[in-house]
Amino acid sequence: IAGRVGDDLNIKTYVVGGFVRDLILETENWDIDLMVEGDGIAFAEVLNTYFEGQLKLYHKFGTALITLENGQSIDIVTARREYYEYPAALPKIEKSSIWSDLFRRDFTINCMAIQLNKREEGKLIDYFGGLADIKNRKIRVLYNLSFIEDPTRIFRAIRFAARFNYGIEEETQNFIQQAITQGMIAKLSTDRIRDELLYIIREKSLLNSLLIMEDLGILKGIHPDLGIDDGFAESYSKIEDTLSQFKGVLREPNPVLLTIMLMLSNFPKEKLDEVIGLFSINKAWANIIYISLSNRNEVYTKLREDNLDKYQLYKILHALPEESIIYYYTDCKNPYIRHYLMFFSVKLRDIKTFITGEDLLKLGIKPGPSYTYILQEVLKAKVEGNIYTIEDELKLAK
Ligand code: CTP
Repeated sequence: IAGRVGDDLNIKTYVVGGFVRDLILETENWDIDLMVEGDGIAFAEVLNTYFEGQLKLYHKFGTALITLENGQSIDIVTARREYYEYPAALPKIEKSSIWSDLFRRDFTINCMAIQLNKREEGKLIDYFGGLADIKNRKIRVLYNLSFIEDPTRIFRAIRFAARFNYGIEEETQNFIQQAITQGMIAKLSTDRIRDELLYIIREKSLLNSLLIMEDLGILKGIHPDLGIDDGFAESYSKIEDTLSQFKGVLREPNPVLLTIMLMLSNFPKEKLDEVIGLFSINKAWANIIYISLSNRNEVYTKLREDNLDKYQLYKILHALPEESIIYYYTDCKNPYIRHYLMFFSVKLRDIKTFITGEDLLKLGIKPGPSYTYILQEVLKAKVEGNIYTIEDELKLAK
């Protein structure tokens, strides 16, 4: 359809970037990026008459976004022509728009295009050797300053290398190292580092990414105390297993948070503040990570005590977020502690009293500090399994 619209408007039309890469790799990809050599806005308007999706136009940039009902998106960009100054006395060289646009991108495997116009339908545009790099399983930048101009590409290189199990080409590795030495990671805002780290963390290839990052000194480039050890690999491999054991027991534990906690397991507690922002999309995340990590040893020590009764167990664990429980269960090797964590989650975590201060008032009890005591005693009896119904609670309160 895009090719037909291009033909009707007499505009050269291409599908570019990750979609082309994944098409060659025969991997699913529903994010379509189109590039047109002409009026991208007019193109998008006509294209959307076929799809009737939600159309957003960005006149200033000549870009548009069509979002379809099934969530799939089509990005449209207008390729811009640029002039390249060559050294010495050579004249300015005018490159085609598509060349210029592809040259601005990150890695050869992401810089291919396929033309969609009828007469040249399916023609692969591969100026920078992307196909060869896919065959040779290499991540390669197009030019030496790529990582200096856009240091987020350091993280993208890792992510793609890990995702496809490719190597980072040697010169590209050198460029990465030069960029790190020049302090380019530190020049990125916390938000941008966090976005890239979260992209990496969300991928199945996280472990692979971390190993490459450790190898290239990127983790230390982010923070001198950041690193992973064998313990991480072992715990990380258990996450899915833990989540399936807790399925239906806890509500919606967030696996990304869990992974972050495992990554920061051995991070010095007193310096947690320095890195938490790099891993948290909001205050709630930061809190959960902080609470889980800073309470860990104390919780383990308390749970190591013999013969804890139900209420003691409840008191140790009930204020913790569910991710803390799952994190401890994944991290801890002591079977007794793990048993306590599971028992608490299945049997005790949801216990609450039916009655509140209002009910105590109705019972004629004078408001004051005794309310806390009474409600606590009722809760205790309930957790211990001595009372069940609201009538039991009222009776005990009285
Ligand atoms: N790109 C870039 N530099 C960046 C980010 C993106 O050059 N810092 C380019 C890449 O060439 C990429 C395109 O913009 O192909 C689109 O970016 P994105 O959607 O992030 O990349 P995908 O390749 O589609 O990656 P993914 O499969 O993870 O969605």
